Formats: sequence, C-alpha cells, structure tokens
Amino acid sequence: MSRILLAGGAGYIGSHTAVELLEAGYEVIIADNYSNSCPEAVKRIEEITGKSVKAYELDIKDTEKLENVFKENKIDAVIHFAGLKAVGESVAKPVLYYRNNIDTTLSLLECMEKYGVNNIIFSSSATVYGEENPVPYTEEMNRGTCTNPYGWTKVMMEQILEDAAKANKDLSVVLLRYFNPIGAHVSGKIGEDPQGIPNNLMPYVAQVAVGRREQLTIFGKDYDTPDGTCRRDYIHVTDLAIGHVKAIDYVLEHKGVEIFNLGTGTPYSVTEIVETFEKVNDIKINHVYGARRPGDLPESYANADKALKVLGWKTERTLADMCRDTWNWQKNNPNGYNK
Ligand code: NAD
Ligand code: UD1
Repeated sequence: MSRILLAGGAGYIGSHTAVELLEAGYEVIIADNYSNSCPEAVKRIEEITGKSVKAYELDIKDTEKLENVFKENKIDAVIHFAGLKAVGESVAKPVLYYRNNIDTTLSLLECMEKYGVNNIIFSSSATVYGEENPVPYTEEMNRGTCTNPYGWTKVMMEQILEDAAKANKDLSVVLLRYFNPIGAHVSGKIGEDPQGIPNNLMPYVAQVAVGRREQLTIFGKDYDTPDGTCRRDYIHVTDLAIGHVKAIDYVLEHKGVEIFNLGTGTPYSVTEIVETFEKVNDIKINHVYGARRPGDLPESYANADKALKVLGWKTERTLADMCRDTWNWQKNNPNGYNK
C-alpha cells in the first residue's frame, strides 16, 4: 500500500486526513515542527485508528533534515499542509509568512526531485479567487487579487507548483482549494485547537460555549446578503479529509496539474451558524453585532461539481453535524490538547 508523507500532518486538517488515509489502508508519515500543533494529536490519531504513525519533529524548511525522511522511507506522495494560516498575523508579519509558506514548498519540491517522488497535493484556499471573481467559484476562473499576505502565499505556491509541473512532465500536482473547514472527528478526540484568541468563527463560537470567551462579535450586519451577515461555504473537516483520500487515489494515477474546489456549494450566514449551533447543542451563544472586519467578502462559496465528476467526491455531513461535532470536541477538551 502506498506511503504518504503529511507535511504539517499534526495540525487540524492534517490530523483528520491522517485518520481517513489510515482507515483507507494507506501508510502515513507525519513531519511537523509543532509550531501550531502538538505530539498529542499524533497519539490521538493512533488511538482512533488503532494504527501506528511514524512522526518526525522537524522544520520542513530545513531541507537537510527533511531529506532524512525521504532517505529513510520510500514515499509515494506528499500532502503539503505545513503553513502559517492566520490572516491578521500575516498582515503584521508578512516576511515570516512568505518565508515559511514558500520555503516549505520549495524544500518539499527539492527533496521530491532528489528522491524521485512525483506526486504532491497542496492545501490551497478559496482565498485565491480574490475580490474580483463572482460566486460560486469555479476552478477555471483566474486567480484574483488577495487582501492579505497569507492569501498571496497561496497564489504564489500554486504558481510555483504549476511551473514545476510544466518543467517536469512526470510530476502530478493536485491543488485543493478549501472553503471553510469546521467541525471535528466524530469521536471528539481530535479537533481544531487554535493558540490564543481564535480568528475564525467556529472556534470562537465553541470557546464562548465552553466559557473561555465572554461573547462573540458578529462582524457586520449590513452586507448585501439575505440576513445582512456574510455567507461562507462551511465544510465538515471529515468530508474535507475524505476529499484528500480521493485526491491521493487521483494524484497517484495522473500527471500534470489539476485543481479542485473542496466545498459543499451551499453558503450559510454567520447568524445561521450561531442559531444552528445553539439549536443542535441546546446552548446559548452570547453575541453582539459589531463593525465589519476589513478584508471580508460578503460571500464565498464553491461550485463543487468538478470534484464530484472527476474524483467522485461530495460532502455528506450537514451543518448540524458540523455544529454537533465541534461542540463534542470542545466540551471533551475545553483547553484543546493541553488538558
Ligand atoms: P494548522 O495550523 O492546524 O496545521 C498546519 C500544521 O503545519 C501545524 O501542525 C504546524 O505546526 C505545521 N507547520 C507550519 N509550518 C511548519 C514548518 N515550517 N515545518 C513543519 N511544520 C510546520 O492548520 P490547518 O487548518 O490544518 O491548515 C492546513 C493547511 O491548509 C495550511 O496550509 C492552511 O493554510 C491551509 N488552509 C486551511 C484553511 C482553514 O480554514 N483551516 C483554509 C484554507 C487552507
Ligand atoms: C478566513 C480567511 C481566509 C482563510 C480562512 C481559514 C479572511 C479575510 N479570510 O476566512 O483567507 O483561508 O479564514 O483560515 O480572514 N466572523 C465573525 N466573528 C468572528 C469571526 C468571524 O463574525 O469572531 C465572521 C467573518 O466576518 C466571516 C465568517 O465569520 O464572515 C467566517 O470567518 P472566518 O472563520 O474567519 O473565515 P473567513 O473569513 O471566511
């Protein structure tokens, strides 16, 4: 069975993908510097699946150390999750973001070339559609103008991977553009564990529910949307993880570059998220309406037809499942992995 290297595999999406790959029979190796995760996540992956995972603590930018992983293991494909992802922080520390996100990509590509590994899946984002493109987004649209350095790193990394595939006809690249992943594994053993004050909506809601934050501020209620709050394409992280298993099957069988949106195709508003969370979990979320957050688009959602047609993948979990599983993770792990 094929052996998959998950760069940044101890993180939120990587850990859920590791579980689904192991359950589909793939062998998984994780390389992570734990800058935004911890070894406990790897233990939990093993607990859920009953399978063992080889984990390396290293910085992917450190090409020499990364090379050891390729020397010691015959790797069939790489999934590149290792990136910094906080939009606000990327505005304050652009050089850190460009250095980390781009160097990790270059380092992986160099090792892959040296050790004859030709398959890579990259964690891209709906953010690359930028401000110009109309919703729903389709994969053949041009990449747009991003509002922050984080987004630009994704645009640049997509370009780097496309150029690498142009030069090396044996290379197989899949760019997965995630929409808004939320939720947690149904076991409640792994989930999203942001450091400090959460930037994203669902972890903030969950921390209000568990009493770690006073109240949620909903950013803006005067958008041109049905209820005036922004609409997003929220996707259950397990559906997203299963999308990676399908993409691995694909990347191993093809050459060249293919792009897939991973979303549900259905947008929900911020108010709908809060209401659904309250209803499904029978818990009140204190909230107030505040000013718009700079850089937010009124709407972002996928046309998800291509992933269905080409990969045979579509989402199966509902918004209620996403809210229930988020709460199950948060209430069982009120302080995340640091119990
Ligand atoms: P995460 O922070 O939980 O996971 C990223 C992992 O990479 C962490 O475990 C971190 O420690 C590791 N890492 C970062 N830099 C590293 C380095 N130099 N060397 C080794 N390890 C390193 O984030 P996530 O939500 O799981 O996101 C995974 C990927 O998907 C990221 O590239 C992110 O930009 C992208 N993405 C995430 C979202 C989202 O909403 N979560 C949306 C679109 C795209
Ligand atoms: C953000 C990033 C995006 C990144 C994604 C995952 C921006 C502009 N976009 O997407 O590039 O890929 O996170 O990391 O930051 N909201 C509130 N109150 C809160 C938090 C959020 O009302 O406390 C609202 C936001 O205004 C937005 C929605 O909830 O309308 C979702 O926000 P968030 O979870 O941060 O995701 P995005 O902004 O879609």
